[in-house]
Amino acid sequence: MQVVVLIGGLGTRLYPLTYTTPKCLLPIGNKHFLSILLDWLKRNAVTDVVFAVSHFAPTIAEFIKSDLADCGIPITLRHETDPLGSAGALVNCADLLQDDFILLNGDVLMDLNLEELIEFHRKNSAAVTTTVSEVDDPSHYGILDVQEDGRTLDWQEKPTREDAKSKWGNVGAWAMTKRVLDFIPAGRFTSLEKETFPQILAEGLLFYAYKFKGYWKDIGTVDKYVQANRDLLNGVISGLQPAGKEIQPGIWVESPECVPDDIQVTSPAAIGKDCRIGSGVKLAGPVVIGSDVQIGDGVQMASTVVWHGASVGSGTKMSSSVLGGATIGAECVLNPGCVVATNSAVADRSVLASNTSLGPGSRLP
Ligand code: GDD
Ligand code: MG
Repeated sequence: MQVVVLIGGLGTRLYPLTYTTPKCLLPIGNKHFLSILLDWLKRNAVTDVVFAVSHFAPTIAEFIKSDLADCGIPITLRHETDPLGSAGALVNCADLLQDDFILLNGDVLMDLNLEELIEFHRKNSAAVTTTVSEVDDPSHYGILDVQEDGRTLDWQEKPTREDAKSKWGNVGAWAMTKRVLDFIPAGRFTSLEKETFPQILAEGLLFYAYKFKGYWKDIGTVDKYVQANRDLLNGVISGLQPAGKEIQPGIWVESPECVPDDIQVTSPAAIGKDCRIGSGVKLAGPVVIGSDVQIGDGVQMASTVVWHGASVGSGTKMSSSVLGGATIGAECVLNPGCVVATNSAVADRSVLASNTSLGPGSRLP
């Protein structure tokens, strides 16, 4: 089974984190999103993968070469000089595709069984089968008007609550036949959700929805990204665990020798490779600490995600925040909702108000 994955977006709703890191390479539970995706595709008997890339193409290519070369699934990168939209990106891959294939939004963490999806698609001889799940807020999703047997009559992209015709939201995983590509003009920006699907529905082609009850989360906002980390740590995503070994229930560590005896860790927590952790540190889960992180004596962290290479000075306290590879001084306080991007620096004894956001390279004297 062939899979095309769309990973060419800018990730603007994740700024400042995605100014320097592509959304598909964000760490979740100390694993890069693309590594998690490839493991899941392997468990789903996928034979080859095409990544449709645009922004950050060199960074993504480098990651695939260094981290995914031995993943066991052949990978092809198809590059758009300027992003072509979901439909434009797909038709740009046309020559690589055989008949039925799977298309994925490359920012959704899920435990969908792709073989069941394609079986449902083939049983109905559908042109397109969209995976759907019940959603609370239709304004963030494609909403499908679905009959009892899954036949779909209408697609509304991100309607208001008042206008939404159902609660069935597009998860971002489709089975398609190749003839769908005939509906997409090549070489210009086009959207599947706004142009191609409404046209296919109007022409009366068989369009189905596959109702999915498992785990899925679009990691495309900071809140959802943090929640995805928590979900992974809490073991709610089947087949997926944080990096490292579980040394106590819910505590995952990659280099046990780097974790001193006198620190207090409340599960769930994941601690990456080669960290330096001072004495008396308190980590109140869910907490993720990336690799090569330095944490000074007496630091207190609760519900926080810390990326590779960060440094936190002694006595600093932070809660419900995301720290890129940044340097935070001693005796600082980061109130809930702070996001501090990679390569920024915060001086000793700074107090960051709730929801402070610091872009990459910021200096807070
Ligand atoms: N190659 C390429 N080119 N990829 C793109 C482009 C492009 O022009 N634009 C977006 N992508 C990629 C993004 O990188 C992301 O992985 C995926 O396509 C989805 O784009 P988003 O921008 O995150 O879309 P969304 O979350 O607002 O909405 C989509 O996903 C929802 C489910 O999370 C839609 O498909 C909705 O209908 C759906 O409900
Ligand atoms: Mg998205």
